[in-house]
Amino acid sequence: MLPWWAWVLIVIGALLVGTTLIDIFQRKHSIMRNYPFFGRFRYLFEALGPPLRQYIVTSDLVERPFNRLQRTWAYRAAKGELNAMPFGTQLDLETPGVIKFNPSAFPTYDVGATDECEPIVLGKNRAQPYGVKHVANVSGMSYGSLSKNAVMALSEGVALAGGYMNTGEGGCSPYHLQGGGDIMFQLGTGKFGCRTPDGRFDPDKFKKLCENPQIKAIELKLSQGAKPGKGGVLPKEKITTEISEIRGVPMGQDCHSPNRHIEVNDVDSLMEFCDKLRELSGGKPVGFKTVLGGEEFIRDVARYIAEHDDGPDFITIDGAEGGTGAAPMSLSDHMGLGLQEALVIADNHLREAGARKKVMVIGSGRCITGAEVAIALGLGADLVHIARGFMFALGCIQALLCDTNHCPTGVATNSPWLQRGLVPSEKKVRVANYLHAIHHDVMMIVRALGVTHPQDIGRHHMSMIVEPGRRVALTEIYPTTMKAFHETRVIRRDKMPAA
Ligand SMILES: Cc1cc2nc3c(=O)[nH]c(=O)nc-3n(C[C@H](O)[C@H](O)[C@H](O)COP(=O)(O)O)c2cc1C
Ligand code: SF4
Repeated sequence: MLPWWAWVLIVIGALLVGTTLIDIFQRKHSIMRNYPFFGRFRYLFEALGPPLRQYIVTSDLVERPFNRLQRTWAYRAAKGELNAMPFGTQLDLETPGVIKFNPSAFPTYDVGATDECEPIVLGKNRAQPYGVKHVANVSGMSYGSLSKNAVMALSEGVALAGGYMNTGEGGCSPYHLQGGGDIMFQLGTGKFGCRTPDGRFDPDKFKKLCENPQIKAIELKLSQGAKPGKGGVLPKEKITTEISEIRGVPMGQDCHSPNRHIEVNDVDSLMEFCDKLRELSGGKPVGFKTVLGGEEFIRDVARYIAEHDDGPDFITIDGAEGGTGAAPMSLSDHMGLGLQEALVIADNHLREAGARKKVMVIGSGRCITGAEVAIALGLGADLVHIARGFMFALGCIQALLCDTNHCPTGVATNSPWLQRGLVPSEKKVRVANYLHAIHHDVMMIVRALGVTHPQDIGRHHMSMIVEPGRRVALTEIYPTTMKAFHETRVIRRDKMPAA
């Protein structure tokens, strides 16, 4: 006969083994699949966090790059939970830099309104224009920096919601295509997916790739906010047979991508390359992605577009606050303009030159909630690209280990065990929910402002706290010239009053 304590131990042991097995085989929570039993403590700490935080550790607003409030919004949106706050705002509304919308006394009448709005069209005068349904879509993140399962979940999620995903510069993998959703193909400086053996652009491969009807638009990447002016190295250890095939690079040696396109060294050659890509793609919309550092470049681009019928169909402005797998601190912290300022500069120059109707502006850079997306739209973007918000939707917990291959949630790793934690058929629903939630929030703001379309949001709808107790209209902080003010955006944008 066993003593009583032995029975207690047996019961505890059985519970532990049972819980571990349940965790390993459940499909919803990546952390619990990857760290059976111990992963449960995360949920315990999360639940205890709010009551304990008032006595110890950090507040909800201090973490970087995304504070807990922002991440909670993204997690709840991805789970399809109502993003309502109990007991009022937690933001200090007198903090300098806080942007507030000016609600209309007469909001756009709505009783159970749908969130549908007129699509935003990229390349409206081209052979194959692309109408975009959601104001925000998935920003460029390569297969390689994201895991196979993460890319699959994104691909299936955007297909479910009717959005699109950008491939990032690592080529178009079968995992991007597998969901059957719309794709924006990114051509990076390494020309991955359409390169010659010596790393130059291969027009035939590009043409063949663009025959795929899932590819709706092409983005030529000049630079990204986290590391402007820096190329990349893909270490030989990471070049598997599969990656070698997708990217078109040999195995067994490091693969370097240059810090700019050899074909592009001024505005004219940039415009020519955009035209060439559009022609090879059979008339799909072509744009370029860049970080701004000043006014001259975008001014020259704007003048070119105004005077010609060719050139880019869209310009993606990536803010200096943008993320990546890994980047040198000197570039991440000290290079390039932040999204808000860059959008205003681009929008002003495009208007001033008379080019605003001809080109769409896409903004990206730390926009993960509906309100942040709406602010970017109001400052001059027609659409927004989101990278890290979708990583949160996939389960990222901001562990900041993306460059170590030890990502605990399976989002940014090629470890088969850790990737196993991320189940695409579960996470695709979260991706779709998140996409819908952003669009829903933006449309809610649109109606509160008394307008009808996201492109109607303008600087005149916002003001900024500049010091406690003093609020200044954004039209005053970011003024336009009279000429720029009269130039409208592609679909509407004709309602912006003079500064
Ligand atoms: C893991 C990761 C990989 C990325 N890979 C690319 C890439 O291949 N090409 C690119 O243009 N930008 C890349 N980016 C930058 C994003 O597309 C985006 O421009 C930037 O992160 C700002 O958006 P966010 O603040 O929503 O993350 C990457 C970002 C992350 C986080
Ligand atoms: S390493 Fe951390 S920050 Fe990077 S994707 Fe994974 S959970 Fe997110």
